[in-house]
Amino acid sequence: MATNTASIPKIYDDAADFMPINGTDYLELYVSNAMQAAHFYKTAFGFQSLAYSGLATGNKDFESYVVVQDKIRLVLTSPLKSGTDIGRHIDKHGDGVKVTALWVDDATYAYNEAMKRGAKSYMEPVTEEDEHGKVVRSGIYTYGETVHIFVERKNYNGVFLPGYEKWETHYNPTSVGLKYVDHMVGNVELGKMNYWVEFYQKVMGFTQIMSFDDKDISTEYTALMSKVMSNGNGRIKFPINEPAPGKKKSQVDEYLDFYEGEGVQHIAVATDNVIDTVTQLRDRGVEFLRVPTTYYDTLVERVGEIDEDLEPLKELGILVDRDDEGYLLQIFTKPIEPRPTMFFEIIQRKGATSFGKGNFKALFEAIEREQELRGTL
Ligand code: FE2
Repeated sequence: MATNTASIPKIYDDAADFMPINGTDYLELYVSNAMQAAHFYKTAFGFQSLAYSGLATGNKDFESYVVVQDKIRLVLTSPLKSGTDIGRHIDKHGDGVKVTALWVDDATYAYNEAMKRGAKSYMEPVTEEDEHGKVVRSGIYTYGETVHIFVERKNYNGVFLPGYEKWETHYNPTSVGLKYVDHMVGNVELGKMNYWVEFYQKVMGFTQIMSFDDKDISTEYTALMSKVMSNGNGRIKFPINEPAPGKKKSQVDEYLDFYEGEGVQHIAVATDNVIDTVTQLRDRGVEFLRVPTTYYDTLVERVGEIDEDLEPLKELGILVDRDDEGYLLQIFTKPIEPRPTMFFEIIQRKGATSFGKGNFKALFEAIEREQELRGTL
């Protein structure tokens, strides 16, 4: 287990943005069958074929399919033989997010800054080149075996990265309107949330913008605590959850058991039209968590007037929450792999900058019903 539990040096406690990040570059998932996963993300989630690395490009170790939808790039990777780090990762964790790649102007600088502030190295800066230019990448560990890779691509105009070829396909389902990664949530072990909050503050210059505790997020049975970390320009937001003691096993505990460690719990992807996007996703076979329809009886009382008709929201199971700045619409998929681990959130923001705190209780009760069906509550 590559968890870095050494204490983070206290010498750098400035929250200045010493590490400018332009956005999420890509998310890499280690999966047991990258070819079939790519088909799933195209068919069900509306991603497009982008790039490929594998036997056909001379890569004999692993196969990666890269799919894209607007600013979201997913890399789906499987090993081509036994005894690899990728295969061991899949054996231990099941399918899940290995890499959250961050787009920076200078990957060597980002790496050096993180390392001198106490990061654990995953990959020293490496320059990769092909006829389209060069890319510099470097990487550090975060919670569990999850890593951040810094990607510097200002001198590159190829389709994805050196080593990848354009992936052209006859089968190209349409987009469902997903635009960009809004936030990505990590589940960490009991008592470790503040450690990772400090990690993002000290090592990456993030600030804490929000927190929830078990008084905000609890049901009769389960609870969790969460703190939201953001980089300087707000393009990267990483909420971090830890389980809180409850009468029964919380969803975070269930995740930690099945993932066999800390890791990415959900990826929230933004849309400009949640009703249209969720209608398409549902028609393409994506399954969502449902709250009881009584949720909608008091919705307008709770969130005030909204632009959307209530009927399609109720029909699709879309949730609404409001904060001081506006409101948001959101819905959560069921886990998208055999283990009850990672899932997606679809979110449309109409001014709100928060994460749907008002929905947590209704959602937890929905998750508990699923846990009951799995016999893991
Ligand atoms: Fe979320």
